[in-house]
Amino acid sequence: MVENLLDFSRKKDQEFKEINLYETLNEIISFESKKISEKNIKVTINCNNIFFYIDLEIFTLVILNLLSNAIDVVSEGGEININCYLDDSYLYIDFADTGKGIEPEHIEQIFNPFFTTKATGKGTGLGLYIVYNQLQKINGEISVDSRVDEGTVFKLKFSKGGNYGF
Ligand SMILES: Nc1ncnc2c1ncn2[C@@H]1O[C@H](COP(=O)(O)OP(=O)(O)OP(=O)(O)O)[C@@H](O)[C@H]1O
Ligand SMILES: [Mg+2]
Repeated sequence: MVENLLDFSRKKDQEFKEINLYETLNEIISFESKKISEKNIKVTINCNNIFFYIDLEIFTLVILNLLSNAIDVVSEGGEININCYLDDSYLYIDFADTGKGIEPEHIEQIFNPFFTTKATGKGTGLGLYIVYNQLQKINGEISVDSRVDEGTVFKLKFSKGGNYGF
């Protein structure tokens, strides 16, 4: 069923275009501005003056899922910090929250379909699975570093050549 859903959402071609990372991240984050202000969450984006070729639809889906998870786990007044770095070959984005963290025994499972610690009806457990799948289409990578009661960092890595192979 999940594979069918992903097939359904699959486009024929990726549409890579150049984005201004700071502006694009700001726009994506503004989709959740209501929840962010309700919880008084402080969002910081350190991604100035970085332009990058990427599939905007996939990028948006990835960031929205990480954002929605982060908003769920931080407490009132918590923080979400997004840091970007470029080197010769890659763009790195660290997406960090000061939420409750992930139990070590759950880390291996979070990208599996239907793995959720949320109450029935609150989460499907598909968010990170979809993130992982979408990133694979553009040769993106994701890893996670988390400490219980301190927070979580999702580390994204995108090849500058996208999936074009150069
Ligand atoms: N930033 C985070 N901090 C702590 N735990 C997280 C974080 N992101 C994900 N998790 C854990 O990983 C699980 C799976 O996340 P995923 O996004 O795949 O599903 P979900 O958020 O539970 O449901 P859905 O995304 O379908 O609404 C979550 O239930 C939670 O336990
Ligand atoms: Mg989720």
